[in-house]
Amino acid sequence: MTDKNRVWIFDTTLRDGEQSPGATMTHAEKLEIAQMLDEMGVDIIEAGFPIASEGDFAAVSEIAKLSKNSVICGLARAQLPDIDRCWEAVKHARQPRIHTFIGTSPLHRAIPNLDMDQMAERIHQTVTHARNLCDNVQWSPMDATRTEHDYLCRVVEIAIKAGATTINIPDTVGYTAPRESAALIKMLLERVPGADDIIFATHCHNDLGMATANSLAAVEAGARQIECTINGLGERAGNTALEEVVMALKVRHDIMPYDTQIDTTKIMGISRRVSQVSGFAVQFNKAIVGKNAFLHESGIHQDGVLKNVETFEIMRPADIGLNEANIVLGKHSGRAALRSKLNDLGYEVGDNQLKDVFVRFKALADRKKEVYDDDLVALMQDSAANTDSDYLQVKHLRVVCGSDGQSADLTMIVGGEEKTVHAEGDGPVDACFNAVKAIWPHHAVLQLYQVHAVTEGTDAQATVSVRMEEEGRIANGQAADTDTILASVKAYVGALNRLKVRREMVGENADAKQVSMYSH
Ligand code: KIV
Ligand code: ZN
Repeated sequence: MTDKNRVWIFDTTLRDGEQSPGATMTHAEKLEIAQMLDEMGVDIIEAGFPIASEGDFAAVSEIAKLSKNSVICGLARAQLPDIDRCWEAVKHARQPRIHTFIGTSPLHRAIPNLDMDQMAERIHQTVTHARNLCDNVQWSPMDATRTEHDYLCRVVEIAIKAGATTINIPDTVGYTAPRESAALIKMLLERVPGADDIIFATHCHNDLGMATANSLAAVEAGARQIECTINGLGERAGNTALEEVVMALKVRHDIMPYDTQIDTTKIMGISRRVSQVSGFAVQFNKAIVGKNAFLHESGIHQDGVLKNVETFEIMRPADIGLNEANIVLGKHSGRAALRSKLNDLGYEVGDNQLKDVFVRFKALADRKKEVYDDDLVALMQDSAANTDSDYLQVKHLRVVCGSDGQSADLTMIVGGEEKTVHAEGDGPVDACFNAVKAIWPHHAVLQLYQVHAVTEGTDAQATVSVRMEEEGRIANGQAADTDTILASVKAYVGALNRLKVRREMVGENADAKQVSMYSH
């Protein structure tokens, strides 16, 4: 590998990804994801937006202290207090970076009401300030792909002269296309004095489904840092997916001879964990990490794959850490087998957690003859999402349904106190949700209710995802059970728990975060 073809992977799951409505993670979850990113070889972790809240500041500082290999980066608007706060958080890292940005397109310039000269002056002042604090400074002209080329060249030159070491070119609204993405990087490299001395980064959003293609085109034109998130998490249609660009560079190295240092066998494990903690299920046909990405359903495909795997497979499941043997534990399997299987699936469980998971596994194996990998993943997701320390817990549920009407008798633990109600509804799920509402009155509105079968057969577990909204705050809940109605209630209660936690987080408000991003 030469420096010339090395591509730096900048992961922003914990910043841009977490900005996605409903994807807010707890402090402990952020630390865990950061550790996984560090271990898989991510070069730069954007750990948060320290001025946004006390919670963001605490997470970025802690991640900076714990980081082993990755550069730890925090985001700051083009304001001196933002940059100071960012530095206070990242300075603990072995390798800190300040990332400061301002919107440079005509639409974004109108927000702080600065003319071109005033904005140029602000960029000079803020990048100089950041560079006086930290040797490693990244600057982004937000909405670069809709900024006038002459002005873009002018402000990029100012940022480089002021000391920026990486210039990121965001396609903030997912508007560009591959040829244009490449031409923009090429134009900057040709026209901006000093451009050869810094790294150009590409940061694409996926509104037109072109984020991966746009990022790769930018690399072919000379960009050497790709900004991305696990599972493509991010606002609206999300960001470039880390797993897609990394695997594209690996599988098509023949035509894109660029190298990353990502350990691709860790992709599946972190994809599952990010899906769990964000509450954003991965779509079944998602490239690389979707449940169907390596399934060969049709007869012709199966026949071909059995004769020669390369007939229909361009990469091996093991390359992304997916075990080919989807084999099966049963009710006689012991703790050691369970632990080893969980390790294969990317979960490292301590003794206490194993005890708890084993009890749940046995209960599942009693109800279901064969427990597949996907069942275990669902079980792990369920045990992470719904715990004995939750404020609201489902203790007992009895549902009556059928042609004579539907009702639910529900017992819940609310802050340690047991409460039981009887409720009716239009269908069993409605009756159950009414029962929860009778026990825990709330104004949260159900935005999404989704059920998926984890495996095949009528004894399959169902995973249920629920999204709730309350006064602009959004929270997701997930649960799995062979009883679809019970899983529905647990997911609903899980979302209510998350809303409660979010209400209580002092100064923590994802929606305030989005507003403040644009106020310069
Ligand atoms: O999409 C964007 O423009 C951003 C910037 C803050 C880099 O996320
Ligand atoms: Zn972005």
